[in-house]
Amino acid sequence: MSFIEERARALVERYSMKEVRIPVLERTQLYLRSTGETTDIVEKQMYTFTDRDEGETIVALRPEGTPGVVRAYIEAGSDRTDPEQRLFYSGPMFRRERPQKGRYRQFFQFGVEVFGRPDAACDAELLIMTDELCRGLKVPFTMEINSVGDPKCRPAFREALVQWGRAHWDQLCDDCHNRIDRNPLRLLDCKIDAKLAESAPNSLDYLCDECRTHFATAKELLTAANVQFVVNPRMVRGLDYYTRTAFEVMAGGLGAQSTVVAGGRYDGLVEAMGGAAVAGIGFAIGVDRMALALQAAGLASAAAPDAAIIAIGPAATRHAMVVARNLRAANLNVEMFSPERKMKTLLARASKIGARFAVIIGDDELARGVVQLRDLRQSAQREISEAEAARVIVEARKE
Ligand code: HAM
Repeated sequence: MSFIEERARALVERYSMKEVRIPVLERTQLYLRSTGETTDIVEKQMYTFTDRDEGETIVALRPEGTPGVVRAYIEAGSDRTDPEQRLFYSGPMFRRERPQKGRYRQFFQFGVEVFGRPDAACDAELLIMTDELCRGLKVPFTMEINSVGDPKCRPAFREALVQWGRAHWDQLCDDCHNRIDRNPLRLLDCKIDAKLAESAPNSLDYLCDECRTHFATAKELLTAANVQFVVNPRMVRGLDYYTRTAFEVMAGGLGAQSTVVAGGRYDGLVEAMGGAAVAGIGFAIGVDRMALALQAAGLASAAAPDAAIIAIGPAATRHAMVVARNLRAANLNVEMFSPERKMKTLLARASKIGARFAVIIGDDELARGVVQLRDLRQSAQREISEAEAARVIVEARKE
């Protein structure tokens, strides 16, 4: 997990973003006003309780980061004094879920929020960034994008969905019956009959001219930047604040919980929360799910050691400590194995944890100033000097 966070952090710094730390505990009201009263998160998933302060404030463990960042942004006065901000955050989020693979009650997000940039170039920049992250992690992925419109064109789409829902009442599940009037966009997420949703109205048919142009520009910029994406006109996202571009990145091998990154534009949110009329857009990486995706793809994470050190005997063990320290000084990830286990067991373990090399040192090697360097991917072993071994391992890391 920290490998993914480190990659994400290095990436956001290249995109000139600054860290913001947001509280784990916020007033519940914050999420009602932003995430949305009729969303699953607010209706069912928030851990919320009454504080024992004088006002008996109702507080919640944060289920997502965006509302806290917007609150902090407004409280700092940035919306009025310095609206253009590029921020990132990371940490645990909490949702009352039925735990399953890739879905947890406490999970980790690494998120990005950009304020004061209503232009489609900003949408494209964040999607390029997401693409860069997933490519860098080498995880197989698909990116789906859509435009969910804005307050001008959304009402017509909403109404079309209500009409469609009523016409298909008998085929819809109980959840959807409740959604028809309260949150009709969520009808498109009906899990019971995904095929049915194909006959539902789609958001792109209802976009106003401004939203259509915005979406066309974003797509054009992505294509120019060689980013591959699929337009999914039925992807609406489960949170209320989105306007215009919404997107999700899916990775294979995760079963039902395949979305590893998700986000979109939320141009009305800062104003709705009491700030100035400032545009916003962002996304969050589901760090736990991304880690599962890497595992499923058989990608050894950076946590896999470059070398496992295997020493035989007390004198070799003493020397192996120095060898390990020298390799670590060369920025290599090195694990020192127990000198009390059998060679066969240690080599099996080295392969199991994904170590690239085993460096084997016995009394004989010690006396001659060499090591046995075993390439665990190619099952080839050779005797070389310590300095040469270090060079080979450093080179292999660059591959
Ligand atoms: P979200 O779609 O609710 O969006 O969550 C973003 C990502 O967090 C999901 O795609 C998933 O990878 C991960 N995630 C969500 N719930 C869980 C869970 N129970 N267990 C494990 N992983 C989970 C947001 O939270 C928005 N704040 C994203 C955003 C930022 N939009 C604009 N800016």
